[in-house]
Amino acid sequence: MDITPSYRANGDRYSTMTYARAGASGIQLPRISLGLWHNFGDASDRLVQREMLRTAFDNGVTHFDLANNYGPPYGAAEESFGRHFAADWRPYRDELLISSKAGYDMWPGPYGDGGSRKYLVASLDQSLRRMGLEYVDVFYSHRRDTKTPLEETMGALDSIVRAGKALYVGISNYNAADTARAAEILRGLGTTLTLHQPRYSMLDRWIEQPGAKGSDDERSLQDVLDESGVGSIVFSPLEQGLLTSRYLEGIPAGSRAGREGSHLSSDNLTPDRLAKVCALAPIAQGRGQSIAQLALSWVLRGGRVTSAIVGASSAEQLLGTVAAGSAPDLTDDEIAAVEKALAVTA
Ligand SMILES: NC(=O)c1ccc[n+]([C@@H]2O[C@H](COP(=O)([O-])OP(=O)(O)OC[C@H]3O[C@@H](n4cnc5c(N)ncnc54)[C@H](OP(=O)(O)O)[C@@H]3O)[C@@H](O)[C@H]2O)c1
Repeated sequence: MDITPSYRANGDRYSTMTYARAGASGIQLPRISLGLWHNFGDASDRLVQREMLRTAFDNGVTHFDLANNYGPPYGAAEESFGRHFAADWRPYRDELLISSKAGYDMWPGPYGDGGSRKYLVASLDQSLRRMGLEYVDVFYSHRRDTKTPLEETMGALDSIVRAGKALYVGISNYNAADTARAAEILRGLGTTLTLHQPRYSMLDRWIEQPGAKGSDDERSLQDVLDESGVGSIVFSPLEQGLLTSRYLEGIPAGSRAGREGSHLSSDNLTPDRLAKVCALAPIAQGRGQSIAQLALSWVLRGGRVTSAIVGASSAEQLLGTVAAGSAPDLTDDEIAAVEKALAVTA
C-alpha cells in the first residue's frame, strides 16, 4: 500500500474504541466522532489541526463530521480537511466515514440556502471539490426548510445516493414529526434514512421530550428514531466546553467562550449551570473519569445514541474525550446521581 511518508497510522488504532451500528443499518460509527465546526478555519494553526486529525484516527475515530459552512470563512474547514486528507489519508479512504451537510446560508441569492434540490445538489458538488473526494459517506439536510416541500428535500437526498455522491443520508435538527415523515418519504423512494444529527447534552434534552421544536407527533424524537430504525449522532455533547472543567475557574484565554462572535458566550456560563457542573465532578471521579468523559458516557448511556460528535481545540483535549468511547456504560445509580446533580442550583 502506498503510505504517505510523513504519516503512518497507528497499527493499534482499533484496539480501544467501540463502534455501534447506526439504527437498523449496517454501518458502524465510533462512539466518539470528531467534528470540524470550530478550529479548522483559515485562522487556525494547521499543525494543531493535523495533530488533532491524526490523534483521532490513531485512536479509532473513523468518523469526521463537516458541513459546507464550517470555517470561518464558509467552506474553509472542508478545504483544510481536503489538504490533510491529501497529505495523510488517501491510502486510508476506505477506513474513513466523512460527512457533510447543506441547509444554512452558504452563497448569495435564492439557491444558496434552505432545502431545495438545486441547493443541496450544487452544495454537495462544491463540498466534494473542496475536500478532494469522489463521494461523502454521509450527506445531511442540515435543517428543515419549511418553505420547501419535504418531498423535494428527501427526493434530492435520494438522487444524491443514486448518483453515488453519498453512501448514506441523514437529517439534522428536524423535529420528531418531520423526522417520521422524512423517514417515510425516503422509504417510499427506496432509500433509507440512516442518521439524525440533533443537539443533545445533559443541559439540552429536547430529543427526549414529546412536542419539542413544534412537533405534533405524540412521540419524542428518540422514540421516533428507535421505531423507524434511524441512528443518532449527537452534537455539542459537551455544551461547547461548558460540561468540562474548562470554565470552573473563569474564562481561560483562547477558549470558545472567550472568543468574539462565538456561539458560546459568557452569558451561557450562568452560576446555576456552573453549580451543576461542579456537582457532576464527584460522580465523574467515582468512575475514574473527567467531567467531559462523564458527559459523553451520559449521552451514550443505554445505547440509544449511536455516536457523540465532539469538537476540540487540541490533540490533548481530544485524547481526553476519545477515552469515553471505550468507557463502561453508566449504572442506574450513576444515572440517578447525574439527575440529582443536574437539579442543583447556585
Ligand atoms: N448539525 C448541526 O447543526 C451542528 C451544530 C453544531 C455542531 N455540530 C457538529 O458537532 C461537532 C461538535 O460540536 P461542538 O464543537 O459544539 O462540541 P462540544 O464537544 O460540545 O464542544 C467542543 C469544545 O469543548 C471544549 N473541549 C473539548 N474537549 C475538552 C476537554 N477534554 N476538556 C476541556 N474542554 C474540552 C473545547 O473548547 P475550546 O475550543 O474552548 O478549547 C472544544 O472546542 C461540530 O464540530 C460539528 O461537527 C453540528
